[in-house]
This record gives sequence, C-alpha cells and structure tokens, in this order.
Amino acid sequence: MKKYLVTGSAGFIGFYVAKALLDRGDEVIGIDNMNPYYSVTLKEDRNDILKKYPNYTFHYLDLVEREKLFDILKKEKPKVICHLAAQAGVRYSLENPYVYEQSNLLGTLNLLEWSKKSVKNFVFASSSSVYGGNRKIPFSESDRVDNPISLYAATKKGTELMAHAYHHLFKTPMTGLRFFTVYGPWGRPDMALYTFARNMVQKEPIEVYGYGKMLRDFTFIEDMVPAVLNCLDTPRGYEIYNLGGNSPVKLMDFISFIEKELGVTAEKMFLPMQPGDVRETYANIDKARRDLGFEPKTSVKNGVKRSIAWFKKYYSD
Ligand SMILES: NC(=O)c1ccc[n+]([C@@H]2O[C@H](COP(=O)([O-])OP(=O)(O)OC[C@H]3O[C@@H](n4cnc5c(N)ncnc54)[C@H](O)[C@@H]3O)[C@@H](O)[C@H]2O)c1
Repeated sequence: MKKYLVTGSAGFIGFYVAKALLDRGDEVIGIDNMNPYYSVTLKEDRNDILKKYPNYTFHYLDLVEREKLFDILKKEKPKVICHLAAQAGVRYSLENPYVYEQSNLLGTLNLLEWSKKSVKNFVFASSSSVYGGNRKIPFSESDRVDNPISLYAATKKGTELMAHAYHHLFKTPMTGLRFFTVYGPWGRPDMALYTFARNMVQKEPIEVYGYGKMLRDFTFIEDMVPAVLNCLDTPRGYEIYNLGGNSPVKLMDFISFIEKELGVTAEKMFLPMQPGDVRETYANIDKARRDLGFEPKTSVKNGVKRSIAWFKKYYSD
C-alpha cells in the first residue's frame, strides 16, 4: 500500500484519480480548498464519496498556505504527488488574474519546494491551452509552446517550466499531463457540456462561441484515469504527455449530441470567439499511447450519453 497526495481531490479529475487509487487499496491524502469557483456542493458530494473509504484522509487547505501545507506533509509523508489542484478556466482568468497566480504558480511552487526533500515521483496537470494559437495540427509535445493566449495557459506553461527546473536541480521525476477538454459524469458545471445542458433544460438560449465553428478534442474521464495511474506508478525523468481524444469534434455536433440525450432543440445564440479561446484543439497522442498505453475508447457521442444520464439523475435528486 503506497501513500499518495492528490491535490484538488474534490475537483473533477482529482476525484476520479483519488477514487481509482483508493479502489485498488492505496492510501490517499487529499487536499482541496473547496473554493466557490463552481458549486461547492458538487465538490462536497464528490468528497463525501471519497470519505467513505477508510484509506482516504482529507485536509481542507489552500496550497498557498505554505506552513500549514508543510505541517501536513511532514506528518503524512506521501512519497508520490499527483498535483491536480488549480484555478481552471480560460475565461475566468480574464477577470480574476490573481487567483491564477496564487493557486497555479505559488501553490505549485510550494509543492515543488516540499517535493525536493523526499518525494519519489511528482505528476502534475498541465493543459492543451499551452498550445495557444498554434496552427500546426495535431499538437505534439515537441511543438513550441511559447505563445499562450490566456493567463490560464501562461500559468500552466509556468507550471511545466517550474517543474522542469526542480527536476533538473533536485532530480525528482516529474511528469506533466496536458489534458484536452476532459468531461464525464461528475464533471465541471462551468464547462460547455453542462452549461449547455442546464440552459437547454431551463429553456434558456445557449451561447455558441466562434459562431459554432470551433473544434474540440474531448477526453472521456474514464479513458484517461489509467494513463494518470501509469504515470504515478512509473517515475520517469521529466516528461510531458498529451492526453486527448485524438478525434476533434465540431461544436455543433457536440451540441446535437446533448440535444438528442435531453430530447430538446436548443435555442442558439451565435457569438464571436471569446478572448483567450482557441479555435481548435487536437492532440497527437502517439507518445502517450507508446509509453502509457493510453487509448481513448469512448466516442464523444457515448461519452455525452453517459454524462447526460448522470446529469439528469444528479440534478433531479
Ligand atoms: N477538465 C479539463 O478539461 C482540464 C483540461 C486541461 C487541464 N486541466 C487541469 O486539470 C486539473 C484538474 O482540473 P479539473 O477539471 O478537475 O478542475 P476542478 O476545478 O474540478 O478541480 C480543481 C480542484 O482544485 C481545488 N483548488 C483550486 N485551487 C486550490 C488551492 N489553491 N488549494 C487547494 N485546492 C485548490 C478546487 O477547489 C477544485 O476542487 C487542473 O490543474 C486543471 O487546470 C483540466
């Protein structure tokens, strides 16, 4: 039984990763500040599921609180860190820049400072947004990512750079995962799938940015979790992996999948691209396939079906 620290354990991806570790009998120390960026009730509901496991310990903490964080880590001594906590969201970063600097940069730095002492493996979340406005499709890990177009993306690239420096200096194995629009049951209510679904159910119009011409490479959460566990189990030097569906979907098709599952036709407001948004994401996943055995199996149509089934049940209870 190994001891893992999962930051952002009440968050969407953190919840799934923590649960998978707990299910296989490992010990998980979860940290989350339960911030109100989106429904705290949803975070609590996820966390309540984790709390049922005797091998789960939760600490309600903000990663920027360095002394408290170090006290917890001194006591718990996790050997492997899965750092998923962050302020996510491209659009929100235009209005709330400092929370990104605090959570994504300072929060990460605090963990890196700790990790140099005794951590055997450090896995962290990056994002497809680091590819910014890159025109070369699909995006490969070896592509240059020096032109972020949102502060969120800049802090994710900053996370990768800080991790690289700490790996170089202190030799801690570091693996960064560039997630591409991860979705599924228990997913984030601020992301398109559930904002659209909510509006459709409430018979309110949906805002379709980029006049519906955007393409997104979606990743179903359950396809992705085994790849994260592989990274946690296998310390590598310093590596970056794309985790994406490898099959971009047109926004209008995505909307039609949701409409079908809800049995409604959405009223659509076609709007220009929002500042900071990228027109297309598309992951080259050759490296993750080869090294992590990553294989996205769930079609977006089926993934939306699974997600909407959860949405109907969760929000009707
Ligand atoms: N979901 C996606 O499509 C996606 C895509 C690219 C990258 N990512 C990255 O993956 C990671 C997980 O994303 P998610 O979708 O699960 O987001 P999420 O918002 O559901 O989870 C993040 C969790 O971290 C917590 N948190 C935030 N700041 C914190 C702090 N300072 N201290 C302690 N806890 C804090 C939040 O309360 C939240 O529960 C994030 O790093 C995100 O940037 C996600």
